[in-house]
Amino acid sequence: MTDLKKHFAVIGNPIHHSLSPQIHRAFAKETGLHIEYEAILSPLDEFKNTIHKLIAQKLHGTNVTLPFKKEAYELANQHSNHAKIAEAVNTLEFKDDQIIGHNTDGIGLVRDLEQNLNTQLKHKKILLIGAGGAAEGVIYSMLEKKPSELTLTNRTIEKSHVIQNKMDVHAKSFNVNLNVIEIARLPHQYFDLIINATSTSLNNTDLAINHKVFHKSSLAYDMMYGKETSFIKKAQSQDSKTSDGLGMLVEQAAEAFFIWHHIQPTTKSVIESLRSH
Ligand code: ATR
Repeated sequence: MTDLKKHFAVIGNPIHHSLSPQIHRAFAKETGLHIEYEAILSPLDEFKNTIHKLIAQKLHGTNVTLPFKKEAYELANQHSNHAKIAEAVNTLEFKDDQIIGHNTDGIGLVRDLEQNLNTQLKHKKILLIGAGGAAEGVIYSMLEKKPSELTLTNRTIEKSHVIQNKMDVHAKSFNVNLNVIEIARLPHQYFDLIINATSTSLNNTDLAINHKVFHKSSLAYDMMYGKETSFIKKAQSQDSKTSDGLGMLVEQAAEAFFIWHHIQPTTKSVIESLRSH
């Protein structure tokens, strides 16, 4: 019998922890689509081959997670605007012999903040900690929302300057003040929103940031999910509002689902269900 289901996957290394299969299956159930979605471990030096094998098997698309987002960008022969600016891809679409690369991480973060956490970015002062792929992947989506100020900081401050130089043209076009500040000078400024995009939460290491940077009316957002991170604990010690990145994970998946199926799934029940587990 012919299998009429469309097939999708998430590729990473490691991959066993990935919640993407659960999320996409939940979206499919809710929207009445029949799909297969599995998690695939790619050897570290075999990403390109893994993707080409999946294309030969007639997969329609894949999500891409660590550490392959840059390689996915290089492999794609067409890019969405967000992928082009981030130079990283988390969603691949295989269509008419083309490999189209998208990046839905920034859209996922902004939707979680604005729609789920009721935190509008327009005219706000935002601090983004980190200057790796995770930070770079979300900057353009934040600029699009026209905060008054986006301040970048990082342990290795030179990397923040590199990103600032790259993003400055976009910041100007959205009229956003894009700054860089040394971590040690942070407590002298107030931020409405503080985002941790470092890998400290993933690696269970301490983020050396003065707790005085957090205020009662700030929201401290950790892009990591499912852990009581040192960042969240410091924010809570100052009575800041806090959130982990579970909502971002679900929202970036919803945008990938929309790219593949042209249907926007609802996310609230999926976030609640994952949180309750
Ligand atoms: P990712 O793709 O997850 O962003 P990455 O590109 O390796 O991973 O970037 C990791 C980020 O976490 C960097 O901003 C890194 O700071 P450096 O540029 O100074 O290396 C940050 N990071 C990792 N461990 C850290 C620590 N213990 N304290 C502060 N920042 C840390």
